Amino acid sequence: MKKLLIFAFIVAVVAGQCSLKCPDGYLSFKRTPTPQNSMTSLWCVKTIFPESTINVTTAKAFCAQEKAVLTTFENDDERLQLSSALSAGLAAKKMSLGQMFVDGHRLPQCQTQDRTILRASPCFDPTTGFTTDDKHTDNTFMFQNWADTEPSASFWQTDVESCIALGISQFEKRNKKLNDIQCDYDKSPANAKALDMWNVGVACGRLPEFQ
Ligand SMILES: *[C@@H]1O[C@H](CO)[C@@H](O)[C@H](O)[C@H]1NC(C)=O
Repeated sequence: MKKLLIFAFIVAVVAGQCSLKCPDGYLSFKRTPTPQNSMTSLWCVKTIFPESTINVTTAKAFCAQEKAVLTTFENDDERLQLSSALSAGLAAKKMSLGQMFVDGHRLPQCQTQDRTILRASPCFDPTTGFTTDDKHTDNTFMFQNWADTEPSASFWQTDVESCIALGISQFEKRNKKLNDIQCDYDKSPANAKALDMWNVGVACGRLPEFQ
């Protein structure tokens, strides 16, 4: 009886794992479960490229329509997969440069134009001045992947750059890397002609389904 129960348990576990799948149109990120990613073994990511450029509010709304959340990469393989998806999204628009929103933002206490605060701990350090909201993704690797000279904490009107985008850039040291950007704009408000700073898309993540 005991053996039978153990056997039944193993069958149930294996069958359960076999039938967990990402919905059509999603990338399947197989992950090593850790406490930092809430023990996530499979994370489903969809990149969305709307007709027009978007700000972070619109980006999050596109994810919500998918019952997903703004997400990011947690290892180099995922970074490259998201970058390829972004390149493909740009190509479909007959563009070659651009960026997409990923999860991550400056800590609330670091969203300031006060240089004293920005130069002090934890805000001064690009690995501690930012956080992410999606608990299924470990952000440790992400915060080691800033583009050259980023995060720059540039100001515009009353805001500091507090959102994050992954970009395809003409500059090797910025290509497939992260940039801190203004959350409420769809292009760089300081330089709307910089094509590499047009927000053309968003990365949305959700758990797989039993299928
Ligand atoms: C974001 O973009 C939408 C659509 O263009 C616009 O209606 C909204 O006001 C923008 N949000 C912010 C906070 O600027």
